[in-house]
Amino acid sequence: MAFPMHLFLTLLCISSLIGENGGVDAATFTLKNRCNVTIWPGIQSGAGHPVLMKGGLVLEAGRSERIDAPAGWSGRIWPRSRCAFDQSGRGTCGTGDCGGTLQCDGAGGAPPASLAEFTLDSPLDFYDVSLVDGFNVPLSVYPSGGSGDCSEVKCLRDLNRSCPQELQVRSTGGEVIACKSACIAFNQPEYCCTGEYGNPQTCQPTNYSRIFKNACPRAYSYPYDDATSTFTCTKADYLIAFC
Ligand SMILES: *[C@@H]1O[C@H](CO)[C@@H](O)[C@H](O)[C@H]1NC(C)=O
Ligand SMILES: *[C@@H]1O[C@H](CO)[C@@H](O)[C@H](O)[C@H]1NC(C)=O
Ligand SMILES: *[C@@H]1O[C@H](CO)[C@@H](O)[C@H](O)[C@H]1NC(C)=O
Repeated sequence: MAFPMHLFLTLLCISSLIGENGGVDAATFTLKNRCNVTIWPGIQSGAGHPVLMKGGLVLEAGRSERIDAPAGWSGRIWPRSRCAFDQSGRGTCGTGDCGGTLQCDGAGGAPPASLAEFTLDSPLDFYDVSLVDGFNVPLSVYPSGGSGDCSEVKCLRDLNRSCPQELQVRSTGGEVIACKSACIAFNQPEYCCTGEYGNPQTCQPTNYSRIFKNACPRAYSYPYDDATSTFTCTKADYLIAFC
């Protein structure tokens, strides 16, 4: 007796939904703070996707946190530094602040901040590290357990050290705590890739974007840096490391 085709298709469908992670094609993000200071990661979801961890959390030096993201999730994760919050979660951050709250609850961070960006799609997840809005803390993405390209995106250099004076953000104590992108600093079309520079032919790397590219060759250094800065992987989990 032939195996009924509709049953076969049903089984195929169920097995592809279950996948190798034992669930639908979702991902686990592990946020790890390898800095020697506390970091307050912020998480912003793309439109229509659920807010994870209420949008923000605290990670003391050396600590990590696992976060489950549902299938199809997209959004960005960024480090906030030098924060002080009271018992109710109100306060400010020296970099990456999301409106004075520990739980960003849908809000993004103030630039300059390093960003890890994800679109968990099927069959491919897309991910990148972006310095298009500047840099605050070294940020890397390490996929695990997936198949396909699945490149590590390491941005380990402390760009605060090599930041040109006109891009520097300083603390009240005078330390360089973040580095603006030229777009954020000067808001000019050639740096922001807007107006007549609004396409990949006319918007080219600049002396400023090259500083970011030299420090972090796999991170976006300007808006049309796609060719060397966007990565894909299938059914992976992701370690997101600060420092
Ligand atoms: C923390 O790390 C920074 C640079 O990453 C270094 O300058 C500083 O000395 C370190 N502080 C401690 C207490 O280890
Ligand atoms: C760069 O900024 C981060 C965030 O404030 C800070 O932890 C780090 O010590 C800074 N690095 C330097 C070299 O000042
Ligand atoms: C980058 O180029 C601009 C315009 O030519 C110049 O004013 C600026 O000093 C340069 N900056 C660096 C860091 O090379």
